[in-house]
Amino acid sequence: MTPASTAAIEVTGVDRIFRRRRDEVVALRDVSVSVAAGEFVSLIGPSGCGKSTLLRLVADLDTPTAGSISVFGKTPRQARRDQDYGIAFQQAGLLPWRTVASNIELPLKLHGVGSAERRARSDELLELVGLEDFGKHHPDQLSGGMQQRVAIARALAESPRLLLMDEPFGALDEITRERMQNELVRICRDTGAAVLFVTHSIPEAVFLSDRVVVMSPRPGRIVDIVTAGGAGLGSSHERTDEVRDAAEFFHTVAAVREHLHGSPVAGVRGVESR
Ligand SMILES: Nc1ncnc2c1ncn2[C@@H]1O[C@H](COP(=O)(O)OP(=O)(O)O)[C@@H](O)[C@H]1O
Ligand SMILES: [Mg+2]
Repeated sequence: MTPASTAAIEVTGVDRIFRRRRDEVVALRDVSVSVAAGEFVSLIGPSGCGKSTLLRLVADLDTPTAGSISVFGKTPRQARRDQDYGIAFQQAGLLPWRTVASNIELPLKLHGVGSAERRARSDELLELVGLEDFGKHHPDQLSGGMQQRVAIARALAESPRLLLMDEPFGALDEITRERMQNELVRICRDTGAAVLFVTHSIPEAVFLSDRVVVMSPRPGRIVDIVTAGGAGLGSSHERTDEVRDAAEFFHTVAAVREHLHGSPVAGVRGVESR
């Protein structure tokens, strides 16, 4: 057992360099960031700044060129074996030939959980994401927002202490997106899960997060970390629609925007491949 105070994620001095022939892309340069247990942290920055790369490293889908990563005090590989985290990416990634319930039950089935227990868990999760009447439907009978909720339910199936989410709401319309954000706040409050969340949307990052990590490309690095839990916003578990109209919300959005635009113009220096 790891003590409750162990960080969910600890990234220390990580580089990820992709080499192809004589070209090299420095996807991440000297990145250090931590996510506390139960904390919600967003990564924001222009395309190509290494957000997905960082998430993939934490999820053990890739390995750093330098530096170290621990997940609940373990290597990413061990954390993956222990099912310490759930993953939800931009495309819901549901299997079209399976019902909604059996999509949610899939990770449990793969880990040998019996059918009665699986069914009980998927009923619970369907209720959590507000889809209790849709377990027997197939994914193509659901709207994009509903499919995304199924993907989140599936990510939660094994009660992970950590969720890794890469632009999970990127394909949704604005109204559905705000509703999903409210749902995610409630789910995190109910489960106590920590989240590392990638988004392109500044308001989304500020609304959901305790801290917003602002990144910049070439090389991909952290330019600033903005605390979003200031006066009027409270912790990430306390966000309601009223927060969207709070002065502190606009101040924090403006602060993040300033950090994003204050970063050096991409591609001006360091492109010397011939
Ligand atoms: N497998 C790969 N091979 C070569 N280059 C890659 C690979 N994955 C990512 N990159 C490069 O690394 C940089 C960061 O990519 P990525 O993490 O996907 O950025 P983001 O998610 O912030 O848009 C980009 O320049 C991208 O082209
Ligand atoms: Mg990406």
